[in-house]
Amino acid sequence: MKTWLITGSSSGFGQRLALAAVRRGDQVIATARNVKAIEAMAEPFGGRMITLPLDVTAAATAKAAVARAVEAFGGFDVLVNNAGYGLFGAIEEGTPEEYRPMFEVNVFGLIETTRAALPVLRRSGGTIVNMSSGAGIAGSGGGGYYNAAKFAVEGISEALAGELEPFGIRVLIVEPGPFRTDFLGRSITLAANEMPEYAASSRKRYRETNDGNQAGDPDKAIAVILQAVDADDAPLHLPLGPVAHAIAERKMAAFRRDIEAWRSVSIATDFDQP
Ligand SMILES: NC(=O)c1ccc[n+]([C@@H]2O[C@H](COP(=O)([O-])OP(=O)(O)OC[C@H]3O[C@@H](n4cnc5c(N)ncnc54)[C@H](OP(=O)(O)O)[C@@H]3O)[C@@H](O)[C@H]2O)c1
Repeated sequence: MKTWLITGSSSGFGQRLALAAVRRGDQVIATARNVKAIEAMAEPFGGRMITLPLDVTAAATAKAAVARAVEAFGGFDVLVNNAGYGLFGAIEEGTPEEYRPMFEVNVFGLIETTRAALPVLRRSGGTIVNMSSGAGIAGSGGGGYYNAAKFAVEGISEALAGELEPFGIRVLIVEPGPFRTDFLGRSITLAANEMPEYAASSRKRYRETNDGNQAGDPDKAIAVILQAVDADDAPLHLPLGPVAHAIAERKMAAFRRDIEAWRSVSIATDFDQP
């Protein structure tokens, strides 16, 4: 039996993962910034699920949730940094009032929650699941701020994987393509300062036409995440769904083309090289 602490459990992946884990017999600390919204979710499970307030932008709430989790279950062995939202718009369109809060949630919130959880996880070992995105694998026009935040998640996760290995803690970076959650609806902000010059890379129409029509089934995504968390040979990177896989394949091929085409020139840079 595993014990999970999950951020952003009010909808989408977080909520479905919390329910799937508790239904298979695990213990779950489901958290949300508005705990009232998730309290009813725990009722059927007779104490195997507790709900706690956790706003990832308020580090004190993460620390308090970790302390309560220790009181209730003696700790936890899976931390899921799931809370997040997106900002669409060209880099020139975005403003600090729009992009800084997005980094506070997606990047600094993940860092603070992880820092709060690590003293517990270092004792038990376990898994940190970080929700990145296909947008964390490759950047594309109109999504640069979200790309930057999820690239940060990737870098932090890769570094954590190395430094936490001696403690028996694994890291799983989940990189979903489009899945049918609230994400393209309430969890996307569009840069307000829309510029006609960037019409070609605008995601506005993409959002309008795809919200509610994403091909990805979030319950199937959750089943894959559970399988990966349980596996002895779990990957570090887990692109989820065919779109994310195609992004990863294109990125690797383009990266390889670049490093091979310029290899002889770009490696000739050491002092002792002619
Ligand atoms: N669905 C996709 O297509 C997709 C693809 C790639 C990556 N992702 C990633 O998957 C993760 C979950 O998104 P989702 O698809 O499940 O969308 P969702 O249904 O909109 O869920 C987003 C969750 O994040 C929570 N959240 C936002 N700000 C928060 C904060 N400050 N503190 C705590 N929780 C906060 C929301 O809580 P409130 O109810 O309080 O707003 C909500 O529970 C995100 O990291 C997203 O970037 C999703």
